[in-house]
Amino acid sequence: MNDELVGRHFLALEDFLPSEVDTLLDRAAGLMTAMPSRPLEGRSAALVFLNPSLRTRASFEVAMARLGGHAVVLTPGADAWKLEARDGAVMDGAAAEHIREAAPVLATTCDLIGVRSFPVMESFADDAREEVLRAFAAHSPVPVVNMESALSHPLQALADLLTLRQVFGDPRGRRFLLTWAYHPKPLPIAVPRSALLAACRAGMRVTLARPKGFELPDDTMALAARFAAESGGDLSVREDPDEPFDGAEVVYAKSWASPAFYGRFADEAPLREAARGWRVTERRMARTAPNAPFMHCLPVRRNVVVDDAVLDGPRSVVVPQAGNRLPTTMAVVLSLLGAGVAR
Ligand code: CP
Repeated sequence: MNDELVGRHFLALEDFLPSEVDTLLDRAAGLMTAMPSRPLEGRSAALVFLNPSLRTRASFEVAMARLGGHAVVLTPGADAWKLEARDGAVMDGAAAEHIREAAPVLATTCDLIGVRSFPVMESFADDAREEVLRAFAAHSPVPVVNMESALSHPLQALADLLTLRQVFGDPRGRRFLLTWAYHPKPLPIAVPRSALLAACRAGMRVTLARPKGFELPDDTMALAARFAAESGGDLSVREDPDEPFDGAEVVYAKSWASPAFYGRFADEAPLREAARGWRVTERRMARTAPNAPFMHCLPVRRNVVVDDAVLDGPRSVVVPQAGNRLPTTMAVVLSLLGAGVAR
């Protein structure tokens, strides 16, 4: 293990050097074949979910249990006090507790804090500040793990990278297609942004395909281009739902909101409806390299984002991709806590 990982927050995968990401992936792969014996005995994680989850919650809770530790799941506003993140807030509204107290208090009983806080989707500038996640990071003396924020889903991106390793061995130089797909609702950019950055940093030949009007932020694209240049990969953008499938060696589908209409989603509707044809179909998958896998972070809307035939076919890796959330989460927790590892 790389001792540089111990005690750090895990907020975005790009906060970690490529060598550190490789360490996490090696460790996750190792955990799939050999488990240390209860390295987290007596240790706990607080998992704060401000939004719903199936995979993240199940994998994190089971990760803690398998490692001999314990997870406390808290749902602010439901079974825990509604939280305030803003400095200087006059707390005369719904929030009963400030993260300035909640984070250090949780750290008195827990060794790590996981936080899921989706964007509000009203103002991109406000969402991009990731106030809840950043407040936990600022006020927690123990590592904070981002379980998905406005901009990043690093646990998902790590599982995606493990999946790419399992498919290709070394994914360097392979053709990775990240395609926007129609979804009836405007979705956050955390997953596509994290997948794009991870693939570019892994040295893949990345194509981002999306309709005009569904750009990712300029700073994300600039960072992706820099990662591609540094890793020996490349990055191109297409506004065509078909041609980018030609020769793709892996297809990753995701939907996201139009930046021009952020927070004004009724106004976005015509643009979104005009892109209803951006669906992953068998016809499109037939254009890829032979046996190119289909990836999606899940949950996914069948026959809206992707056809049943693709999801139920032999090229879909969405279930093992989700299954990779368990070893990658275990690797992150063990590495941040410096537990159960040879030094
Ligand atoms: N992919 C993912 O994070 O799934 P959940 O939202 O179900 O946790």
